[in-house]
Amino acid sequence: SDPDALQDFCVADLNAATSVNGFPCKPDSQVSSSDFFFSGLSMEGNTANLFGVNVTAGNVLSFPGLNTLGISMNRVDYAPGGVNPLHSHPRATEAGVIILGEVLVGFITTRNVLYSKVLKTGEMFVIPKGLVHFQKNVGPGKALTLTAFNSQNPGAVILPTNLFASNPTIPNEILAKNFQVDETVITGIKSKFGSS
Ligand code: GLV
Ligand code: MN
Repeated sequence: SDPDALQDFCVADLNAATSVNGFPCKPDSQVSSSDFFFSGLSMEGNTANLFGVNVTAGNVLSFPGLNTLGISMNRVDYAPGGVNPLHSHPRATEAGVIILGEVLVGFITTRNVLYSKVLKTGEMFVIPKGLVHFQKNVGPGKALTLTAFNSQNPGAVILPTNLFASNPTIPNEILAKNFQVDETVITGIKSKFGSS
């Protein structure tokens, strides 16, 4: 959970010149009902990509009414076989529910233990703050999950792109040593993400 709010709400002024931790508030005179409702999670995301997955974020950046309230949500759409790639959220624990389909959910602890389960519609999961996790659609059709976070801006470190498509790129010899493979394997992986 992010720091406690000192007022009822603080609809983010995303264009303010300064922001320290979160965003300054819009003046109350400019706040209206629309600041507290968000339709962005109602649309199916486009899963035609390498992973067969699409994450639509309902965080403070897309839904400024969340500012200072310590909470946010994602919609994740999965094509058949789609994988939400290994990632972690540095600022939040995640709770999720399967809205549609059958999804394998797993996280790995700091002691390298994998906890995982195949969940069906209506079932729920939790991912402790900061731990690496993944989801895979293991059902015959599309899948859909809704996830909730105890941060207005949980952040996501997506391991494949973090490691193999950073800017500037991590030197090949570093990655080759880390994964104990030849540098040609690294350049092969990088090329999948348009990196070199
Ligand atoms: C799923 O893991 C998500 O981050 O929404
Ligand atoms: Mn997640």
